[in-house]
Amino acid sequence: MRGSGDAREWWRVSLSERANMFRIEHGHGDAATGEVDIDTVVDLDNLEAKLLKWRREGFVSDAGREDEARAAEVGSRFGVELRRVAASVRAAREVGDEAGSEVRPVGATVRIGTVDMPVAQEGSPASQALVPRINNAYLFTARTDDIAMDIVENRRVMLIGHTGSGKTSFIEQVAARTGHGVLRANMNGQTTIGDFVGFWTVKGGETVWVDGVLPIAMREGYWLIIDELDFAEPSILAVLTAVLEPNGRLLLKERGNEIVIPHPEFRLFATANAAGAMSAYRHLYQGANLLNEAFLDRWRVYLFDYLSKDEETEVLRRTLPQLPPALAPTLATIAADCRAAFAREDLASTFSTRRLIDWAELMLRTGDAERAAGPSIYAKVSAEDAALIRSIIRHHAIFDAAPDAS
Ligand SMILES: Nc1ncnc2c1ncn2[C@@H]1O[C@H](COP(=O)(O)OP(=O)(O)OP(=O)(O)O)[C@@H](O)[C@H]1O
Ligand SMILES: [Mg+2]
Repeated sequence: MRGSGDAREWWRVSLSERANMFRIEHGHGDAATGEVDIDTVVDLDNLEAKLLKWRREGFVSDAGREDEARAAEVGSRFGVELRRVAASVRAAREVGDEAGSEVRPVGATVRIGTVDMPVAQEGSPASQALVPRINNAYLFTARTDDIAMDIVENRRVMLIGHTGSGKTSFIEQVAARTGHGVLRANMNGQTTIGDFVGFWTVKGGETVWVDGVLPIAMREGYWLIIDELDFAEPSILAVLTAVLEPNGRLLLKERGNEIVIPHPEFRLFATANAAGAMSAYRHLYQGANLLNEAFLDRWRVYLFDYLSKDEETEVLRRTLPQLPPALAPTLATIAADCRAAFAREDLASTFSTRRLIDWAELMLRTGDAERAAGPSIYAKVSAEDAALIRSIIRHHAIFDAAPDAS
């Protein structure tokens, strides 16, 4: 089983009537009374593979549940004390903030979720140009409070998760609100060690050094987002490893071992689709490398799941206020259904928030949900996936509910 209440999902395994075969059933809600939507027979090899897969997906067997209950009981002995210590750490930090406010100008923080984050010091016009634009529709959820705190504490943060789950936009929106310039380097493509660290070149007869994106960000105090880090070449990972140490510096060997000391406002972020806990999905992100544990240990790694149905409904409403109010939750439900089908491996492609917003936007322009789904969804997936997604959409009967374009 995994999840609870209405979201509970289960697989049941029993002996099949056929020799050496097993019957597996899948359903939602109560395992005793719930409806079975998958009922099939598999052999032992197949069953073993399924058991592994279910465990990866967070399913826990009845025996596992008993173990967990025992562990929770033991854990609660420390839980009370841990919560007390955390509360006093928080309180001490707040007192520290008050003492510090004498030196800091008033209003120098901005609230992100429940965390007060310092605002950037006035930079040059060039750095101002790199501050992302605020997206007023952006929704900060409880999941991001810990990350905001990590940014304040200058930890290295890696966000992993499926495409379009909001990894990059979260960092950009925090930077937009705190006034920090952002540089991005995408590792899935032509980013070479030269682009990243810097290179010598000849300009007007003189040999000059050109800083790469990493030393620029470190010197100027920009926030650097390394996108798709799991595609980076090994030489880039090696350079990063040194910078990731606490108080890490960059050694420019090519420049006679010049040491680049990070500006206090420099922050380093990475995003990846298939690293760490996402490794099970590497087949979807062709060419992604496995990041080793020693490297991952230098980061705080956060798994970015898609937003919940309610959160996504809210995002749709904020992003597209013209959308008929009843349509937003239906669209969010369709996205959630497609993701569930993807998790069951009925669909080979997932359904991103980006895709959902794009579909809704096009729906508003064309006044036709089916036509809008063409370029925003169907054309991007296989014919089988398109057929299944179409049936999920049909199931929610929205094709005639879209607003009249006239
Ligand atoms: N919390 C949110 N509030 C509002 N919009 C959101 C939110 N999360 C995601 N989005 C929307 O989803 C889009 C895609 O998000 P983003 O580009 O951050 O995804 P990503 O996880 O970085 O994807 P990729 O792995 O493909 O780079 C954003 O441009 C934004 O429109
Ligand atoms: Mg991204």
